[in-house]
Amino acid sequence: MITVHLIAAARPNFMKIAPLYHALKRTDWCNPKIVHTGQHYDVNMSDVFFRDLRLPTADFHLGIGSGTHAEQTGNVMIAYENICTEHRPDWIVVVGDVNSTAACAMVGTKLWIPVVHLEAGLRSGDRRMPEEINRLVTDAIADVLWTPSIDADANLIAEGKTTDQIDLIGNIMIDSFEMLRGKIEQSTAYEEIGLVGSEYALVTLHRPSNVDSADTLAPIVQQLVDVSENIPIVFVAHPRTIDGLKRFGLTGELQAAEAVILLEPLPYVDFMSVVTHAKLVITDSGGLQEETSYLGIPCLTLRENTERPITITDGTNRLITTANLGDMAMEAAAGNWPTGRSLEYWDGKTADRAAECLRRRAGR
Ligand code: UD1
Repeated sequence: MITVHLIAAARPNFMKIAPLYHALKRTDWCNPKIVHTGQHYDVNMSDVFFRDLRLPTADFHLGIGSGTHAEQTGNVMIAYENICTEHRPDWIVVVGDVNSTAACAMVGTKLWIPVVHLEAGLRSGDRRMPEEINRLVTDAIADVLWTPSIDADANLIAEGKTTDQIDLIGNIMIDSFEMLRGKIEQSTAYEEIGLVGSEYALVTLHRPSNVDSADTLAPIVQQLVDVSENIPIVFVAHPRTIDGLKRFGLTGELQAAEAVILLEPLPYVDFMSVVTHAKLVITDSGGLQEETSYLGIPCLTLRENTERPITITDGTNRLITTANLGDMAMEAAAGNWPTGRSLEYWDGKTADRAAECLRRRAGR
């Protein structure tokens, strides 16, 4: 049996390790262990996801919490190095692009433990995004690169990677959705928000570039209030966003708008129930760009760029600005929107492909 550490830190990571954990657990050659760095620690950002995704309590919990980028990255490195020194795994799988991803990849490679990056090769080309730095660092040093789509392979080859380092496995977020499709379809969460029978736009925002300054967040809030006069808005807000709204005195404006429903983060199944019934989605999330493309729901991404361009070329995603948010939302609500087409290897079988790649590479 080989031991594999699956590193999970933040909400979007939990959806990516869950299908892989279950796939590896089913084998007779691998003992997967979950390492939770504690970057996300609120019950509604962490525990409820473990429950929904049927993950056991983490084998190791580093309890890092919030901090500056250097504090968070450094604290994860120190804590995870201790774990690796005492409980050396045979392999480490890091996922996504959060600070813990780069931190644990650095720890592993320096201890000569082979590191796999799940969701490798995505590039926004925007080095002002902390996630882009984490992607570049992680892909530069990881031993094996698991990519979600062919454009990611091309990015890695252009950066000098060789094909033997890359396995195109597909999009593992789709596995989580398919794993829980029955529960998502049965969930009444979308009814409980009180909009039964009416169409609505779902909003999520959390990028520092949108929510950390009043100069950006106030005009976005104004646009959303305007849009709500045409289509009700369900705004599921991330802790960073709730904090920004409070600090800039914008919460009242949203709460005063009759057709805006402001909610705290929701568990995975409930959230996907709200997504699947939405007429359109306005977001700056990476994962939602992919999930909406898979589900054929119009996605308006409030960013200057995306590391997931395939959701634009082949999916339902469009980049928007604060200035054209209202017009674009009306276009989407009217049905003037690309419907997308199915994407290769976004099929709910990514975790099995990943497990098979790992078995081969580990010589099992
Ligand atoms: C992190 C990731 C981002 C990912 C996002 C998903 C980095 C650099 N960023 O951003 O890529 O898309 O997670 O959510 O790794 N907070 C809480 N409770 C929590 C977690 C955070 O209240 O459980 C608050 C803290 O006040 C914190 C703020 O939210 O300061 C931001 O959290 P942080 O982990 O620094 O980054 P995210 O914005 O969540």
